[in-house]
Amino acid sequence: MMIAMIMVASLTFMSCTKEGPAGLPGKDGKDGTNGTNGLNGQDGTAGCIACHDNSQVNFAVTQQWEMSKHATGGLYVRNSNNCAGCHTSQGFREMIAAATPNANTAGTIQNPVPPNCYTCHNIHSTYSPADWSLATTANVTFRIKPENTHDFGKGNLCATCHQPRIPSPMPVLGGPDITIPNANWGPHYGAQATIVSGKGGFEFGTGYTNSFHTAGVANSCVGCHGGDANGINGGGHMFNLGYTTTTGADAVITATCTSCHADASSLNALMALKKTELNTLLLQLRVRLKEIGIMDPNTDRVVPGTWTSTQAGAFINHNLVKYDHSNGVHNFPYAKKLLENSLAAIQ
Ligand code: HEC
Ligand code: HEC
Ligand code: HEC
Ligand code: HEC
Ligand code: HEC
Ligand code: HEC
Repeated sequence: MMIAMIMVASLTFMSCTKEGPAGLPGKDGKDGTNGTNGLNGQDGTAGCIACHDNSQVNFAVTQQWEMSKHATGGLYVRNSNNCAGCHTSQGFREMIAAATPNANTAGTIQNPVPPNCYTCHNIHSTYSPADWSLATTANVTFRIKPENTHDFGKGNLCATCHQPRIPSPMPVLGGPDITIPNANWGPHYGAQATIVSGKGGFEFGTGYTNSFHTAGVANSCVGCHGGDANGINGGGHMFNLGYTTTTGADAVITATCTSCHADASSLNALMALKKTELNTLLLQLRVRLKEIGIMDPNTDRVVPGTWTSTQAGAFINHNLVKYDHSNGVHNFPYAKKLLENSLAAIQ
């Protein structure tokens, strides 16, 4: 009954709205004014091409990097949480992002890679040449002396990693004896930042001064190590300056030095002099540390046991100068005084 009623109703409705024939077409309207043109879109690859062009800069730099210790050294396998911040690219980026460059990473870094373009630059962040900017330029606070900071300019990037670690336990100047737990104890490697700045030593006595290099070389590490490549010997993105010639002699790339040291041959003579002087002192200290018994006669590592803070401090200073690896170039006056005062303290 309901369905029938609805059908009847809809038939009635349809018949009421039936259309008549179409009327005549109206007059044409006037043309509107043209709109203003939109802005041209950006070429999708313009930003990319600024770096990925055919100038071969990327290729040259990449090849230099491939020959560098950063790429070939193999130490990036040190990926546990207390090593990865300096030894792996991802660990470094994690610490920089967290603004805690001296802390440990949250965990072990899986698939670790060594320091590379993405470690030091902000590659593929904005996809523009601005991405060549450095990962960090923040002043460095020293792990071994947290009360000291230093501004290396662009070299802050390097110094964040190239600084010693803090030994555990850390002796205190004039403080109590310490017990050294195992032969791994020490400030470890990469002591460069503390020597260049003259701020990381275990400073017995007085008389410490710094080289002109400490404050006088703009951007510090980058100022000296950041020059053009010298063949396959070093420089450029290989970053090393010391190398061995084909005849087996030690040599140094001096391209970035000659803006201040006018004459390369007298600079080489100056370096040879300082190297001999420093290495003689280093050897004297080593002999003395072995006589005392804190340094192993064969391995040069520490002998575990209880030692005075002075003996432990002298051992630290020995390793800082040894692992600075600059043969006195970085900060000769400071390194020399550190060794002399250490020797005097443990006589
Ligand atoms: C700041 C310079 C720079 C800019 C801008 C840039 N790149 Fe790259 N790109 C690099 C560097 C450096 C690498 C890594 C080194 C290499 O492999 O040559 C790289 C690597 C690559 C690779 C190789 C694969 C990879 O991820 O490692 C591709 C593909 C690439 N870029 C595409 C692009 C594209 C697409 C754009 C633009 C949307 C772009 N890049 C913008 C510098 C840049
Ligand atoms: C992410 C940490 C990190 C940064 C940043 C870094 N380095 Fe390194 N660097 C290392 C490590 C680790 C090694 C040792 C690598 C290996 O042997 O596997 C090394 C090795 C080197 C070496 C070779 C040392 C040798 O014994 O021959 C030089 C030279 C060097 N770095 C200079 C620099 C300079 C200059 C900068 C800044 C432009 C810099 N590094 C930035 C961690 C870093
Ligand atoms: C503060 C940054 C930093 C941390 C943390 C760090 N290292 Fe290193 N390490 C370096 C740098 C930089 C070098 C390279 C120094 C050089 O070539 O002068 C290096 C070098 C080394 C070397 C080579 C020494 C040599 O004489 O060739 C070993 C081995 C090493 N590290 C092990 C470790 C281990 C294991 C850990 C973790 C327990 C660790 N490192 C944590 C910065 C660090
Ligand atoms: C250990 C750190 C480090 C690594 C690894 C590194 N760079 Fe650099 N790079 C630097 C520093 C420092 C500069 C100098 C920056 C300055 O003077 O402003 C630089 C400069 C450059 C420049 C010149 C940038 C400009 O402003 O014109 C290019 C291009 C470049 N790097 C490409 C690369 C590429 C490609 C890789 C990877 C193969 C790479 N870098 C890896 C530290 C690094
Ligand atoms: C005054 C210039 C100068 C400054 C500043 C400087 N270096 Fe050096 N560095 C040298 C020279 C030259 C050598 C090589 C000495 C030799 O082999 O006899 C060297 C050696 C090194 C080495 C050992 C490997 C090698 O042969 O390059 C490392 C690693 C290093 N410097 C890192 C750094 C870091 C990190 C900084 C900043 C904290 C820094 N340097 C600041 C000139 C400089
Ligand atoms: C910005 C200028 C500048 C640059 C760059 C520079 N030096 Fe020096 N250097 C000096 C001055 C100034 C002295 C102090 C001279 C004096 O006291 O007689 C010095 C001193 C030295 C000494 C003697 C030890 C000391 O520290 O007093 C050595 C060795 C040395 N420089 C090597 C180098 C090498 C190698 C390079 C390049 C890798 C270099 N310098 C780059 C300015 C510079």
